Amino acid sequence: MEPVRIQKVIADTGYCSRRHAEGLIEQGRVKVNGHPARIGMKIDPTRDLVTIDGEQLYYQRKKQHLYLMMNKPRGYLTSMSDDRGRKCVTELLPETPVRVFPIGRLDRNTEGLLLFTSDGNFANDLAHPSRQVNKCYRITVRGSIQEEQLVKLCEGVVIDGRKTAPAQARVLVREAERSVLELVIHEGRNRQVRKMCEAVGLEVARLKRTSIGPLRLGMLKPGAVRELTPEELRAIRMAVKR
Ligand code: URA
Repeated sequence: MEPVRIQKVIADTGYCSRRHAEGLIEQGRVKVNGHPARIGMKIDPTRDLVTIDGEQLYYQRKKQHLYLMMNKPRGYLTSMSDDRGRKCVTELLPETPVRVFPIGRLDRNTEGLLLFTSDGNFANDLAHPSRQVNKCYRITVRGSIQEEQLVKLCEGVVIDGRKTAPAQARVLVREAERSVLELVIHEGRNRQVRKMCEAVGLEVARLKRTSIGPLRLGMLKPGAVRELTPEELRAIRMAVKR
């Protein structure tokens, strides 16, 4: 947690105003971890012990949720741990003050945008099918793509006994040996993109998620992790609310 000025910590508890807190500090009545406090000193309210006239000051330890994005590399399981010793995405996470977990999952051999959070409500909202947040995938397939295959992907194909919802698909690269396709879906069914491609006869060589709603993977390197910016967080919350 960010350090906070002592007089603000005291005022935020409702004990007194900030100015009054400064007076108490000047009078030597406030101690931090047993030492006299100084006006303006910064403390960590989650760790430091503050007393006024020898009485402990209790403050709400406001839990700060974390929201991270990772560019998941291929070969990592979206899992907290694996009893068979396979590599897991959690190995790529930095140390965090609160425990974070992945939102949804990417297959072991899928790469790209994966979100992590400590906020269970946010994770549930984002993963809930009713929110219909678009996810964009860049798919490299072997060989060429026929118009008919694109149309089927867009209109929906039957996988696991149920038709997929309408999607958007466009070809980014057309070559004889390989083609690159962009597919936008809002459902999150198990191995959905691979199964959709298989259903229309496309062989997936590489699969990468490039965006979730307004969040873009951008230039984040494989294996790298960063916090969402306040603007990104606001935008994804808006997208989930709709
Ligand atoms: N669809 C897939 O087939 N795999 C993923 O990892 C994500 C979406």
